[in-house]
Amino acid sequence: MVDRDQAARILEKYGQEHILNYFDELGSEEKQELLDQIGIIDFSVLENLDAEKNSRSARGKFEPLGAVTISDIASNKEVYERAGIEAIKAGKTAAVMLAGGQGTRLGFDKPKGMFNMGVEKELYIFQCLINNLMDVVKAAGTFVPLYIMTSEKNHKDTTEFFKEKNYFGYDPAYIRFFVQDMAPSVDFNGKVFMESRSKISVSPNGNGGWFSSLVRAGLLDEIKEKGVEWINVFAVDNVLQRIADPGFIGAVIKSGKQSGGKVVSKASPDEKVGVLCLEDGMPSIVEYYEMTEEMRTLLDENGELAYKYGVILNYLFNVKKLEEICDNKMPVHVVDKKIPYMSEGGEFIKPSEPNGHKFETLVLDMVHMQDNCLAYEVVREKEFAPVKNAEGVDSVESARELLKANGVKI
Ligand code: UTP
Repeated sequence: MVDRDQAARILEKYGQEHILNYFDELGSEEKQELLDQIGIIDFSVLENLDAEKNSRSARGKFEPLGAVTISDIASNKEVYERAGIEAIKAGKTAAVMLAGGQGTRLGFDKPKGMFNMGVEKELYIFQCLINNLMDVVKAAGTFVPLYIMTSEKNHKDTTEFFKEKNYFGYDPAYIRFFVQDMAPSVDFNGKVFMESRSKISVSPNGNGGWFSSLVRAGLLDEIKEKGVEWINVFAVDNVLQRIADPGFIGAVIKSGKQSGGKVVSKASPDEKVGVLCLEDGMPSIVEYYEMTEEMRTLLDENGELAYKYGVILNYLFNVKKLEEICDNKMPVHVVDKKIPYMSEGGEFIKPSEPNGHKFETLVLDMVHMQDNCLAYEVVREKEFAPVKNAEGVDSVESARELLKANGVKI
């Protein structure tokens, strides 16, 4: 709890005095709400606007990292799958769905998972994912605990939707929801946006905080009591996502590695996808915009791209290691987004182009905190159909085509 003077001091430190511009005109409840928000928000993320202080600007030395390839996996299919199914049957695996994003590129005003991929029938994104997970449930003969991360902005809609749809046939006793943290967003001059005269505009702080939010929600105790050792973290927006994939889980367990990441071979050197590689000898993901021309086009001894394996936001982490790194400070990414805000004249504006920055931590940075990571190559057309945009690349249209190609009735 902070009072007006304390709030003013905090804001002055970060050059955000405008937040109190309308304070004197507010009712007492609104005043309190605003002060509470100022007290809770971690304004230190704004320091990341300063390139020199940006926690992610300094990178180490990159080297390529090989993968268990599609053909390796085909040769070891039975061994991997048996090991994975055993782990699932023994209750050692859980899954975490990252569904706290705002999906601004898609421009759908409900949680992305509520988007209907169906054409002749209803088939929601959440439903696609549950259907995929049900394949594993059937094969293992047991439900996999599923933790769904939402944000303050979409929690109510998400939980009500699952309830209304009867959890798409999943056993609700195995589903838990938890809410991620929020961060302020700023215009291109670094000034925090207001949503109204008494409300600072905040947005979900990226998917990197999933484990700390899960711990804060008190769910780690439950996870440990259940004997869960492995957590499969995945994005909500890949409708072909294989969740708790026994082959993947088995391969990571058999490899003796601490973590795993599903990857696809890059379609071309310029494909805009993060690549799983080594950074200073440790596993890491280099973003496409961080790669030099030389890295992008470098060939290995077989004449293939050396930095070839793009990540698809499907990782397997070990619970013990997650506990160890839980308090590590995650690097903060400054990203450009469309952020609705209240203009100086008091008008609420929904921009059609990016108008400011959000601050996000990303799950991919957790990979660099692992001692090692197994890159597990999957067939792109079978496992990767992201719904990011309304049209064009990685869109509703392209994902629908891929669903059909995989025999899913839409
Ligand atoms: P994206 O990076 O695509 O972000 O998220 P987004 O917010 O969904 O979409 P855009 O960029 O605004 O269009 C990748 C995954 O991480 C989750 C998303 O729900 C998606 O599954 N995510 C993203 C969170 O859970 N929380 C966040 O704060 C951001």
